[in-house]
Amino acid sequence: MPSVLVRRSACAVASCAARTLSAPRAATPLRPVYAISGLRTISAWSKVTLGPPDAILGITEAYKADEFEEKINLGVGAYRDDNGKPYVLPTVKEAELRLVSQLLDKEYAGITGVAAFTKLAARLAYSPSSPVLQEDRVVVTQSISGTGALRIGGEFLARWYPYNKTIYVPTPTWANHGAVFRDSGLEVKSYRYYDKATISLDIDGMIQDLEAAPENSIILLHACAHNPTGVDPTPEQWRQISDVVKKRDHFVFFDMAYQGFASGDFDRDAYALRYFVEQGHQPVLAQSFAKNMGLYGERVGAFSMVVDSAEEKKRVDSQLKIIVRPLYSNPPIHGARIAAEVLSDEGLYKQWLVEVKDMADRIIKMRHLLKQHLEELGSTRDWSHITSQIGMFCYTGLTPEQVDTLRTEYSVYMTRDGRISVAGITSKNVKRLAESIYAVTE
Ligand SMILES: Cc1ncc(COP(=O)(O)O)c(C=O)c1O
Repeated sequence: MPSVLVRRSACAVASCAARTLSAPRAATPLRPVYAISGLRTISAWSKVTLGPPDAILGITEAYKADEFEEKINLGVGAYRDDNGKPYVLPTVKEAELRLVSQLLDKEYAGITGVAAFTKLAARLAYSPSSPVLQEDRVVVTQSISGTGALRIGGEFLARWYPYNKTIYVPTPTWANHGAVFRDSGLEVKSYRYYDKATISLDIDGMIQDLEAAPENSIILLHACAHNPTGVDPTPEQWRQISDVVKKRDHFVFFDMAYQGFASGDFDRDAYALRYFVEQGHQPVLAQSFAKNMGLYGERVGAFSMVVDSAEEKKRVDSQLKIIVRPLYSNPPIHGARIAAEVLSDEGLYKQWLVEVKDMADRIIKMRHLLKQHLEELGSTRDWSHITSQIGMFCYTGLTPEQVDTLRTEYSVYMTRDGRISVAGITSKNVKRLAESIYAVTE
């Protein structure tokens, strides 16, 4: 079949040549040739292979198709209220109303985004009293939420990191990390993180792998609420991690998609980032406001880098702009303005902290209820990991076969690795969920 294409293009070339030789008269006969060339017999995309479906979206589709009234969807990675409904934070609604009533213009932001937002985002992450902010040593650019921040960081490191352009990510990690960093031009390898047998952090394996990685490697760390396991290092384990990173001259990339959302306390959730900065590391950071402000589809995030000096900041900032400009020119303004309004207005800010804590507390409460119901049913398993894990996700320890049975027999939907989004649990469905899990595990 390709020969058809070859013949046709050869024919077109011949016609062009004919036109060149006898200019005025050849104009008419050329038209049918080009018209025929428009009737492709083989699509230009015939060699495009079918990609695998997105694992999470597949679950949502199957869930939607299920007609059982009491079905439960634990696949979705967004917060739901106790009625299982999407939740727009009241502070976000108020900030948005204020903005709309001002009828602001829609001019482009600068390449690095809405300045009022990026400044406040950095203060939230590093703390307003952080010496690196006071010494003007943090470069920040607005990003297309957390994913965009990871991508900008990956691009910058691929261009400018002078050492080993390999990033080590935990096993397991957020499903998108590998693709984001590979597409940025970095090589992606992994370090041990989660121990299936103990359903907890494999701190020894992790330290050994960080020790064994070539010096000056890039290490991706989830700042809090590790996705998908919900297993975070303790402060003492963060100290061990910082020590080995220092010893091996590694470079740290923090992904902080859940600040505040994990424990309900913004300072507590930023502990690892701030501890590393205090220890003299100069990490880079991807921040997302998807979960903690519920701004999922508004795509609000920030990428920042701690650098050596205010002078270095200027050079790095200029290169970040060179990366962003051809990617999307400049970021969207609406969500960033909302976030800036919430972060800058004292009343809204205080109320926001309460709302975020309420979301985190609802998730923590559902963890406790699920564990309690399982125990009351007489489950002989140890379910303590349900409450010791943190954030939106819980690695239940269920096997792929048990997950399949939950789906087919009980209309309970989750990813096959046994990960559940605790946000999908409500006071109304938690008992039935516990009964279903009990049924497949006993
Ligand atoms: C660990 C982690 N990083 C980054 C993100 C990026 O999310 P977004 O691009 O929606 O901010 C997520 C979202 O689920 C995540 O779990």
